[in-house]
Amino acid sequence: MDRQAISSNRSDASVAGGLRPRRWRRALALALAAVLFTAAACGDDDDEQGGDTGEEASGEFEFFSWWTGGGDSEGKQALLDLFSEQNPDVEIIDSAVAGGAGTNAQAVLADRLLADDPPDSYQRHAGAELLADIEAGEVEDLTFLWEEEGWLDVFPETLVDMITVDDKIYSVPVNVHRSNVMWYNPAVLEEAGISAPPTSWSEFLTQAETLEAADKTALTIGPAWTQEHLLENVLLGELGPEGYSGLWDGSTDWESPEVVAALDTFTEVLGHTNIGSAAADWQPALDPVIEGDAAYNVMGDWAVAYFETEKGLTFEEGYNAAPAPGTDGVFNFLSDSFTLPVDAPHRDVALDWLRLAGSQEGQDTFNPVKGSIPARTDPDEDLYTGYLAQPLADWNDDATTIVGSLAHGAVADNAWKAEIDSALGEFVETGDSAAFASAVKQAYEDTQE
Ligand code: GAL
Repeated sequence: MDRQAISSNRSDASVAGGLRPRRWRRALALALAAVLFTAAACGDDDDEQGGDTGEEASGEFEFFSWWTGGGDSEGKQALLDLFSEQNPDVEIIDSAVAGGAGTNAQAVLADRLLADDPPDSYQRHAGAELLADIEAGEVEDLTFLWEEEGWLDVFPETLVDMITVDDKIYSVPVNVHRSNVMWYNPAVLEEAGISAPPTSWSEFLTQAETLEAADKTALTIGPAWTQEHLLENVLLGELGPEGYSGLWDGSTDWESPEVVAALDTFTEVLGHTNIGSAAADWQPALDPVIEGDAAYNVMGDWAVAYFETEKGLTFEEGYNAAPAPGTDGVFNFLSDSFTLPVDAPHRDVALDWLRLAGSQEGQDTFNPVKGSIPARTDPDEDLYTGYLAQPLADWNDDATTIVGSLAHGAVADNAWKAEIDSALGEFVETGDSAAFASAVKQAYEDTQE
């Protein structure tokens, strides 16, 4: 697979969505400070640092995520159940905060970290989203755990690079999700006389007319983050992987005619959605597709857990999937990872949790239920059937181009992303693509350079 598009070594400031030199130096200094703290607090002894003593863990374990609701919660539960089975004396406190993509959870987490009240382990997307925590010294350097568990041999370098700063690894990725998926109801397409999902956004716009004439919603949408999820995939489809990746490292000009045209396409696409009555989260946005009132929805492949586990549908019958228009051969990727906060109240138990999250057994228990593929390179492939066989094959195919998701924390750090989020809210209201492009470009200059 061509991983060039997203990343190379983290010490190379040109990586897509990577740190700019000034921020890089700051991150380095803080990472070093965190390491010194860890060394002072824990000494060099492996056991004191967290080496597995082989003893069964006991006490509480507070686990923080945004996995609630149909699809997300089943995967989480499968992994927590396995942890419970292996550690019967641990009392799990599941502090999940509802809201897809973690928008609400991240606000709650920010307050807790500020108040020095961290949970024992919390969810962060691998990539740019984790950088602020590393810079602020909120998370422990987990390199020792990676070495103990031999994980460097069984996780892809691209992914490890995204959670590494100055050769120190700060989280444990549990999965890989694909963002650029267009889900559809095959019966709705058939009824409207549409033979296949669109392979470009202009084809989608033509199909939308046909669908609307048949009294169907062409594409469903949900809250702001799902609109950003759609935006990233329209940009990817219109600009191609190179142009898209360049948006995150300054090499594609946001104000160029190509980008502004792609933004206008996004506005046109939005015009063929149910945005006026947008659903409250990603699951209810899928319901009109499931019920046959709408044809399409663009969502990450956690949707498969909702279709299958929550709604009891079968792949290719009740629902089907295609690459988001114009993104065939491209894998727009994100990964959920887990951290060890500095001052985690139950550090030893948290380390056991992380060991499970990074293990083959943990990942093969979690991912088939969650609707994702393992972050590890050594899964039991027989477990990934139906829809999941496709992302697993594509992720491992050298011909696939990998890019990173904006809405799910891979490419823009929190400071820049917050500006993009708020500019997008306005853009969706006004349709002013030039104003959005210039706001995003300005925010890049303000936050990244
Ligand atoms: C993503 C997360 C997925 C899934 C999704 C919907 O950000 O990475 O695991 O939870 O949000 O909530």
